Amino acid sequence: MRKAALSGVMLCVLVLAGAAQSTTPPRPFDAAREKRLEWFRDAKYGMFIHWGLYAIPAGEWKGQRSLGLGEWIMNRLKIPVRDYEPLAKQFNPTKFNPDEWVQLAQDAGMKYIVITSKHHDGFALFKSAASPYNVVDATPYKRDILKQLADACAKRGMRLGFYYSQSQDWHEKDGAGNTWDFGPDQDASGKELKNYDAYLRGKAEPQVRELLTNYGPVALIWFDTPRMMTDLRGQRFADIVRQTQPNTLIDGRLGTEGDYRSTGDNVIPAEASTEAWETPATINHTWGFRKDDIDWKRPGEIAFKLVDIVSKGGNYLLNVGPTAEGVIPQASQENLRTVGRWLKINGEAVYGAGMSPFGDEFGEWTAKGAKDVRGQKLFLANNEWRVTTRPGKLYITFFAEPRAPFEIPAMKNKLLRAYRLADHAPVDLKTENGRTTFSLERPILDPMATVVVVEFEGPKVEKQPD
Ligand code: GLC
Repeated sequence: MRKAALSGVMLCVLVLAGAAQSTTPPRPFDAAREKRLEWFRDAKYGMFIHWGLYAIPAGEWKGQRSLGLGEWIMNRLKIPVRDYEPLAKQFNPTKFNPDEWVQLAQDAGMKYIVITSKHHDGFALFKSAASPYNVVDATPYKRDILKQLADACAKRGMRLGFYYSQSQDWHEKDGAGNTWDFGPDQDASGKELKNYDAYLRGKAEPQVRELLTNYGPVALIWFDTPRMMTDLRGQRFADIVRQTQPNTLIDGRLGTEGDYRSTGDNVIPAEASTEAWETPATINHTWGFRKDDIDWKRPGEIAFKLVDIVSKGGNYLLNVGPTAEGVIPQASQENLRTVGRWLKINGEAVYGAGMSPFGDEFGEWTAKGAKDVRGQKLFLANNEWRVTTRPGKLYITFFAEPRAPFEIPAMKNKLLRAYRLADHAPVDLKTENGRTTFSLERPILDPMATVVVVEFEGPKVEKQPD
């Protein structure tokens, strides 16, 4: 608890926020898409799993440390296919227990799982007729990982989606990305130098069809890094998805329009958006397991990011990177479970909750012209509290003890009563000169995050004119 308290306090400093993504104009209303998105909008919190051959080198190749993302080691060190491919012969995850993974996601309060079916290295975690470079045909383990996970998810009522690297495939001479074995993808003028469509038609498209045919209902396909993905090519993938499983969602990185917007990696927009969106995020600093990265996000940090995202209308897809044996690092499991225990008590403020009707609490754009690390206008985030909503209710989550009586942002609706969500202890509201405040008992109930519910008249907040 002590550590959770500390991380809560640390969050109060102003930090860099990701660039706002809300500048794109909203898309026209599409009833079929909204229907597909219903579960997604309520789910809010999912587990990303990056698992593949890269978990074996785990950030180190023949004594050489590769900095950066664990799953990019083949690319970073320009490892030839003939040297990387034999990793498959070592892949034997005897400790993989799909039921435990799904149980972990459930304990963590996560409502969907997305696993890498094939990452940029080209190796498939499923049996495929389109390429023998897969877990069943190329490893001593011989068992289909996705099938086992799909069965465990079906048994426990967990939605399952598949990440699929449609463009980059460093194993194939015509796939995008492997310049060290097969030369550049394009020349300086943009002319394609590989027979990219042969790769798409021969491997990527049939594999996506396999994913949608052999594993029951697929919640979503998570495409990534759309290189050379013209509208036409993107549409071919979209057609496969729609024709095979019309309810399956397409993420925002296909290259052509998907069902929801995917932010940049670990980017949380500065402002709210009514459009469905999702932040993919790491729990340390890599997606695929690296043996040297134990810098796990603290539970308080995870809880803050989750509520921050929900208060802006999005979903949090938080990654774990299992070891080559199939073990999700224990410390990351513990942090996830701590947040899961909080969600058991406070989930009403998260699942199915609406975004903040206010917005000033997110922070503000710097007036002095400073830039963030991405070279974009700096957003000074304020991380002390966030608001989510349900009809007639505001959920104000405090990540730090308010120093003074807390003033509820101005609204026209009559305020009825307030109480702490965790124990329903009443919180007194004081109204003076049209301003309503409350104070919280000290020390604050849960230093990681304490939720106060404020009930008001009418279903929706009517904002006071400025
Ligand atoms: C990326 C990386 C990748 C990771 C993904 C997750 O763009 O290429 O390795 O899978 O982001 O969001």
